[in-house]
Amino acid sequence: MKKIKKIVVAYSGGLDTSIIVKWLKDKYDCDVVCYTADLGQNEPLGHIKEKAMKTGASAAYVEDLQEEFVENFVLNAIKANALYEDKYPMATALGRPLIAKRLVEIAHEENADAICHGSTGKGNDQVRFEVSIAALDPDIKVVAPLRTWELKSRDAEIEYAKSCGIEIPVTKASPYSIDRNIWGIAVECGVLEDPMNRAPDDVWSMTINPQNAPESPEEITISFDEGKPAAINGKKLSLLEIIKRLNKTAGSHGVGRIDMVENRLVGIKSREVYEAPAAVTLIAAHKALEELIFDRETLHFNSIMSSKYSELVYYGWWFSDLRKALDSYFNSLQGYATGNVRVKFYKGSISVTGKESPYSLYNKNLATYGTEDSFKHSYGEAFCYLWGLPLRERAANR
Ligand code: ARG
Repeated sequence: MKKIKKIVVAYSGGLDTSIIVKWLKDKYDCDVVCYTADLGQNEPLGHIKEKAMKTGASAAYVEDLQEEFVENFVLNAIKANALYEDKYPMATALGRPLIAKRLVEIAHEENADAICHGSTGKGNDQVRFEVSIAALDPDIKVVAPLRTWELKSRDAEIEYAKSCGIEIPVTKASPYSIDRNIWGIAVECGVLEDPMNRAPDDVWSMTINPQNAPESPEEITISFDEGKPAAINGKKLSLLEIIKRLNKTAGSHGVGRIDMVENRLVGIKSREVYEAPAAVTLIAAHKALEELIFDRETLHFNSIMSSKYSELVYYGWWFSDLRKALDSYFNSLQGYATGNVRVKFYKGSISVTGKESPYSLYNKNLATYGTEDSFKHSYGEAFCYLWGLPLRERAANR
């Protein structure tokens, strides 16, 4: 094996990555550069650079990538109505390729020959990191200590940290494994591992318990401009600002809770609990707008494309030609996705209560049963005859 000279670590500052720097230096006798991205995980990152340097890093980067994340990753997901297995808005799956991209760029700037991530061997995130890194630079070596190291439990990690004099996060250990960014939070492990166990109250952090949500509903209007959320109640806002606001508003009505058993890429079924108030709201609103603007064939085809797109993103194929081609497909239709959608939040539920668009294909004169009806009813007879022709032929020939 070629010797590693310098390695860039995806560094979160949690227990695993706190000890990873020292572990890598011992194991490979190499320089370690730490990289931390702020994707809106809602954790104070002020101290993280200092902490990384203290444990032996030769350089540490902390970057706010929220803007890039929502503009170049989340927006694509909104236009594609991307929900893995029809439910999960993929906050984690969308975040990994962006982090991988920056890790590769920093590896190039720093002349590093390897990248290290803290994902385990049974999850999706290792795949997303490694496939993305390989797609961007197949020559970079990847090190994933959690798959192989001798520190098999949290206690073993704490012991190791103590023996090396590494300060470890003082916060009480969460019984869960959590990943969070601006597009949502994912919680797994602990009591959730039995799918029959009710998700306990302490799982939820972005949404209020729907039982305790306000007694009166709240309605807001979201405006879309060519598929991009552009305003709330007529006030123009950046996408990042819209997502932040919807996380608060929808969350305060208990909207955005998802509790599912999902199929991981590695074949395992896992119980996952998500909260994604803004994602659930924006995708529901965007879908409602598309009901109005797309003809039947486009709408039905779109949902097939949408589920394929979600699979690709979930499976770590962000940097594939197919994902890019599907984005072009969705973009080619979003020119019509301009208009307003009114949504109502009420005790954990979201409903669309109105929609309008200059490109609406809804024609009241055709749809009405009232006197303004302009539909030629007599055409119905020929239509039924022709539509049923193949079945009529089959029946005659039996
Ligand atoms: N199952 C989700 C996914 O694969 C979430 C994973 C989140 N990671 C975590 N450490 N909780 O996208």
